[in-house]
Amino acid sequence: MRILFLTHAFNSLTQRLYVELSRLGHEISIEFDINDSVTIEAVDLFRPHLILAPYLRRAIPQAIWKNHLCLVLHPGIVGDRGPSALDWAILKGEREWGVTLLQAEAEMDAGPVWASASFPLRAAKKSSVYRGEVTEAAVRVVKAALERLPDYRAGRWQPSPVPLRPMHALMKQADRAIDWAADTTDRVLAKINAADGFPGVKDELLGHPCHLFNAQPFPAHGPPGAILGRSGEGLVRATVDGAVRIGHVKNGDSALPIKLPAVLALAEADSLPELTGGESDIRYEEADGVGYLHFDFYNGAMGTAACQRLLAAYETARLRPTRVIVLMGGPDFFSNGLDLNRIEAADSPADESWRNIEAMDDLCRAVIETTCRLTVSALQGNAGAGGAFLALAADYVWAREGVILNPHYKNMGNLYGSEYWTYLLPRRVGDEAARDVIARRLPMGTAEARALGFIDDVFSANPAAFIREVHGRARALAMSSDIRDLLATKSARRKADEAARPLERYREEELAHMRRNFYGFDPSYHVARHHFVHKTPPSWTPRHLAKHRELGWQVPAD
Ligand code: COA
Repeated sequence: MRILFLTHAFNSLTQRLYVELSRLGHEISIEFDINDSVTIEAVDLFRPHLILAPYLRRAIPQAIWKNHLCLVLHPGIVGDRGPSALDWAILKGEREWGVTLLQAEAEMDAGPVWASASFPLRAAKKSSVYRGEVTEAAVRVVKAALERLPDYRAGRWQPSPVPLRPMHALMKQADRAIDWAADTTDRVLAKINAADGFPGVKDELLGHPCHLFNAQPFPAHGPPGAILGRSGEGLVRATVDGAVRIGHVKNGDSALPIKLPAVLALAEADSLPELTGGESDIRYEEADGVGYLHFDFYNGAMGTAACQRLLAAYETARLRPTRVIVLMGGPDFFSNGLDLNRIEAADSPADESWRNIEAMDDLCRAVIETTCRLTVSALQGNAGAGGAFLALAADYVWAREGVILNPHYKNMGNLYGSEYWTYLLPRRVGDEAARDVIARRLPMGTAEARALGFIDDVFSANPAAFIREVHGRARALAMSSDIRDLLATKSARRKADEAARPLERYREEELAHMRRNFYGFDPSYHVARHHFVHKTPPSWTPRHLAKHRELGWQVPAD
């Protein structure tokens, strides 16, 4: 079946549906919702059997839904209507939430229901719930709808109209505002969670208008609303019954109002006292001869200092009397490579890009050169660009079912990439497949990644079950009777590879390309990064997504 995705962006949920439906054999093409006439043109070119709107911010034009079957995914339970659905659910502290697939009709979110699914609502960031539970439920409802389609077409099944709740309004900053003199820690967290990663909660910090993101509880007390100090790169602010650590802010007074670590966004924060306590973004635990290194960087972005801190933690882990080290990444992301926001904010983005890639490469090299331990990358969350290749530095790569990989760099202004991908990728998938993977610029699901050899295994869609299974498998590796042989084979292979071509050569060659990307005449990387960081709305759909706009596309006859 030809399915046209009409979407505001090719975001993680849309990517997941793209992967799942392609795997079912459907032909998917994508059109960004930019303008009604452009959408109508896309429909005329692709002649889809179904239009699916996984992430829309505007209504579908009448000329389309009147003549084509259009199914719209709403991130709310049956009957829920209107914008900011997930924001309201989190702010109101709903225990159970869901997604609904509706047929588009004149009234927004009021069409008959094709399928729905629900889930317990975690007290977590909106973006995390969206990437996790909402995305999983979306896959279920879309698959259910596709199964109903033949019966619908044959007149044997009809979607059912449902009783509608009153339409809720777009959540405004007034609804989100924190009352520091009255709100408890839980309430402050709910407000910031409901606004993470967009639009953040409007507030004031150290005299600057700011939007707040990425908050956690912090063990401290003080006069409600007072800034108590800094913790790493976050600010600690007292609530009526404790404190929160605010990790990221957009400073409205800054010439570059983008999301940055609080301490970086607010120069005055430098003089604040450093507080101890709270959760660190890097955490190490050990059990049964296995060291687990967790690194939960916001949005998976790994800046220079983050890479250096992680390298130091890895080196410490390597000194422990373990047999296996597991790189756990974070629950939402394994890694998305270089921290593009920090790079954008640097005095010299080119120099900061260079420092960041060197730090990332140092980390990858430490993992590749570890011959005294078996190493595993356990991908609980998505990985993109350099972050996907960091995973390949380990001996084994395991992924949670449903994780989306974007193992390519080209979308960022034709970046060449480093992280030793020219060594790591071909040795896993072969030369030809390596060329395809790096060139195709599309997301990859875990099934495809395993079939290709990009990852070794995939299991447990459920995050907690995945971690349990990782523990079991890592323990089994550490206890295995042939671990000495495995380590000896690994060591011999590394020696042979080094003799054939030293790691340093791979790095030099990759970095020669990167030097041109950062410092050369072609500014594509800097331009792409600027648009990415500033979230410039797209004015066209890239050709590699819009099949119907490819050169040579023939309008289908059926
Ligand atoms: N640096 C800084 N921020 C990053 C980032 C990076 N490398 N990768 C992702 N983010 C941020 C996004 O800006 C977004 O922020 P927001 O919450 O303010 O909107 C958030 O993480 C989620 O990213 P999004 O693009 O919405 O997630 P996704 O799951 O839909 O897409 C990717 C994942 C990997 C395809 C996409 O984020 C991407 O292309 N990232 C850049 C990767 C890259 O080129 N890295 C540099 C080269 S190594």
